[in-house]
Amino acid sequence: MKRFWIGVLILIVLCAVGFGAYAWKPAIDPIEPPQRASFDQALIEKGAILASVGNCTACHTKPGEKSFAGGLAVPTPFGTIYSTNITPDPKTGIGRWSEAAFGRAMREGVERDGDHLYPAFPFDHFTLVSDEDNKALYAYLMTRHPVENRRPANELPFPLNVRFVLAGWKLLFFHKGAYREDASQSAEWNRGAYLVEGLGHCGACHTPRNALGAELKRAHLAGGEAEGWSAFALNGLSSAPIPLTHDSLFAYLRQGWQAEHGVANGPMAEVTGNLGRLPDADISAIATYLVSQMGAPAPERVARSEEIRKNLAIDQGGTPIPASAATGSPTSRGVVIYQAACATCHDGSRPQPFGGIDFHLSATIAAPGPQNAINVVLFGLPAASGRQSPIMPGFAETLTENQVVDLLAYLREAYAGKPAWADAKAKLADTRSGKYQVSVRPSDGIERGPDNVGAKD
Ligand code: HEC
Ligand code: HEC
Ligand code: HEC
Repeated sequence: MKRFWIGVLILIVLCAVGFGAYAWKPAIDPIEPPQRASFDQALIEKGAILASVGNCTACHTKPGEKSFAGGLAVPTPFGTIYSTNITPDPKTGIGRWSEAAFGRAMREGVERDGDHLYPAFPFDHFTLVSDEDNKALYAYLMTRHPVENRRPANELPFPLNVRFVLAGWKLLFFHKGAYREDASQSAEWNRGAYLVEGLGHCGACHTPRNALGAELKRAHLAGGEAEGWSAFALNGLSSAPIPLTHDSLFAYLRQGWQAEHGVANGPMAEVTGNLGRLPDADISAIATYLVSQMGAPAPERVARSEEIRKNLAIDQGGTPIPASAATGSPTSRGVVIYQAACATCHDGSRPQPFGGIDFHLSATIAAPGPQNAINVVLFGLPAASGRQSPIMPGFAETLTENQVVDLLAYLREAYAGKPAWADAKAKLADTRSGKYQVSVRPSDGIERGPDNVGAKD
């Protein structure tokens, strides 16, 4: 018996030593900040496009402040993590990071000094980025304007504030490694998969997460959450009333809107804005890959979408749909509100993207949850500065809570042919109280390149 316990003890010690060896990462020596001239201009330009695909500005730039200087609060269910300064400032940025240190951060989620990084930095996707692309990203970042800015300390409870613990998270959920081509697929498909799963980190928002914040592999692209918004499913569970195709996806990602799918709102507006820098071939590759993840739509979905198209063609100028339920029900009260507050813009007579979408086409209304509909109704779509953008007033002050609930019940029944969302009232109250920290952004990615939205270089 004693021998047995000694054996167990030895095993535990070995495991601890093994884990320690796995978890411990050496510091990589600091370097003298490299000269701008040491980087090839073509490489820098390539890096600029890649940084757009990676949406680096979205997390590393506070709106209205210097690009890439960090300090933006990234809320997580566990607490707030602040993004770092990734300008080449030698003191507070990555000015003294070698290319190897940068590459290791991207590939393994490890700081130059050896500390583990939180997966709020999507290194679980960036691990797929090729060395060549990391080289270009490094060249781009190291030639930005250096900004001295130290981020605030992260607000995380014990033991999550101990970075060593992250090694355990990685052991469970992180698979390090470059993208491996799938030889059974076309070159275009592989290019799309490389961008979507790697640098584009689409799954960081579009895949649901487990209790420890890791993406659920078995629910890949099945719909997730981001900044108080639902990021709709991009697999077979897609809630788009008209099934997305290669061409409609291409147009949506290229322009930030598509006639049968409306405008990209919330955090997706920034994503499509950034994708504006990509060549058409890459956007097409992304669309090819996504369509393969969605699979062919079920016959009922195709039939319903044909029905929708037919009715829209007849109903040009759109008469509001009468509520089927008896007077006094939520949906019949909702129709009155729709007519008074929404129909002028949403009857479909003014074309997308500046006219409101006909709700038959809206994935927001057909979605499994009410969050995005609530966000848009409460906060509206603010105007983009200096250019035409889709604008909608917010109704937080003009509609009562019950009116919004009735309105949503009507839109669901009349336009999506589905029962009212059961959790609409609760979600509405939580959204009003500020629980979800909803980011409200103009949908200003429409048909333009990104050039650092709201940021000064
Ligand atoms: C979803 C938000 C998000 C996106 C997108 C993002 N980052 Fe980050 N990044 C973070 C956060 C948060 C941290 C800090 C993590 C921590 O404290 O452990 C970080 C840390 C880093 C670090 C480590 C720097 C240091 O000083 O420790 C590097 C390098 C980095 N990011 C580069 C990039 C690049 C390059 C891109 C675009 C290709 C990018 N990030 C996109 C959120 C993001
Ligand atoms: C920062 C979070 C975030 C990231 C990263 C992100 N998305 Fe989204 N996406 C969203 C949200 C939120 C929506 C819902 C937007 C709305 O309500 O208009 C959305 C909507 C979409 C839609 C419309 C779906 C529909 O049914 O109408 C497509 C297509 C899409 N995203 C593709 C992508 C692709 C491709 C990528 C990666 C290149 C990506 N997204 C990355 C948050 C994100
Ligand atoms: C002044 C015009 C205007 C009014 C009034 C208006 N909207 Fe909008 N709405 C828009 C525009 C423009 C868009 C963005 C383009 C698009 O996607 O349809 C939009 C988008 C939306 C979306 C997102 C749809 C999607 O799938 O992307 C929802 C939901 C919505 N509006 C609901 C409402 C409701 C409910 C009301 C009434 C309480 C209302 N709107 C009143 C102009 C308006």
